[in-house]
Amino acid sequence: MKLRLIIPLLSALSPVAMAAGDIDAGKRLALQGNDQGATACVACHGASGEGNAPAGFPRLAGLNVDYLAKQLRDYREGSRTNPTMNPIAAALDDAASRDVAAYYASLDLAGDTAKEKDNAAGRTLALRGDWENTIPACVSCHGPGGRGVAPAFPAVAGQHASYIRAQLQAWREGTRNNDTNDLMKVVAKRLSDEQIQAVADYFATVPVQPDTGADR
Ligand code: HEC
Ligand code: HEC
Repeated sequence: MKLRLIIPLLSALSPVAMAAGDIDAGKRLALQGNDQGATACVACHGASGEGNAPAGFPRLAGLNVDYLAKQLRDYREGSRTNPTMNPIAAALDDAASRDVAAYYASLDLAGDTAKEKDNAAGRTLALRGDWENTIPACVSCHGPGGRGVAPAFPAVAGQHASYIRAQLQAWREGTRNNDTNDLMKVVAKRLSDEQIQAVADYFATVPVQPDTGADR
């Protein structure tokens, strides 16, 4: 509770300081929802934020707090559209979004990945890109092993293949538009169906690693 007292003081001193988010309040929201109409996140995103591969519900555990808070704001403001998430995010204000983002960012999911398959095509695209078709290596933005580079680049390692595939298709087809400077749209537009499937399968099998910031 001390944080609650300190944060307003810090913010008064430095107008750009962002509230850290209250992990306990975020956990309550994840487990119970709120009375503004947000349903419990765990119903879809799982008890440990592990998501649900067959249903296409993304893993949230261990994604960086700024990325998660941005997605909730984008769903609320409509720059990212999804019939399930838009009304849920509309029931969260900035503070609640930050709290629940901080909670999911604090969860560790190391080791909870699908079994690695022989997937040289996916690995090559992820680690080296496909320069004949001007596709940069995914890890050049998403960090070594796809573990994410806070604040802008989310982890893709250990994310469900079904969800990765759906997001790449959404950018390619123009139904996801919330990436700054079209960074992902430009990449996705150049990917073939086979490349989308291969790289999604690849990242789903890469073990989750913490985004320590050590390489920056
Ligand atoms: C009824 C199921 C359902 C519930 C309940 C739900 N979500 Fe989601 N969530 C989804 C689906 C489906 C997606 C993927 C939507 C898309 O493709 O944009 C998603 C995506 C997200 C994303 C984007 C993840 C990423 O990697 O970009 C965030 C963040 C998120 N949800 C947070 C929450 C929070 C916080 C709650 C609780 C307040 C919640 N969700 C409740 C189904 C749900
Ligand atoms: C030039 C930088 C850049 C490159 C290269 C790049 N990405 Fe991204 N990617 C981003 C950014 C930025 C976002 C976050 C967009 C947002 O804020 O919603 C993102 C988001 C994503 C997401 C959505 C994650 C989620 O949780 O919803 C997936 C999946 C993804 N990238 C896969 C890939 C793959 C696969 C490749 C390689 C073929 C790749 N990216 C290459 C910049 C990049």
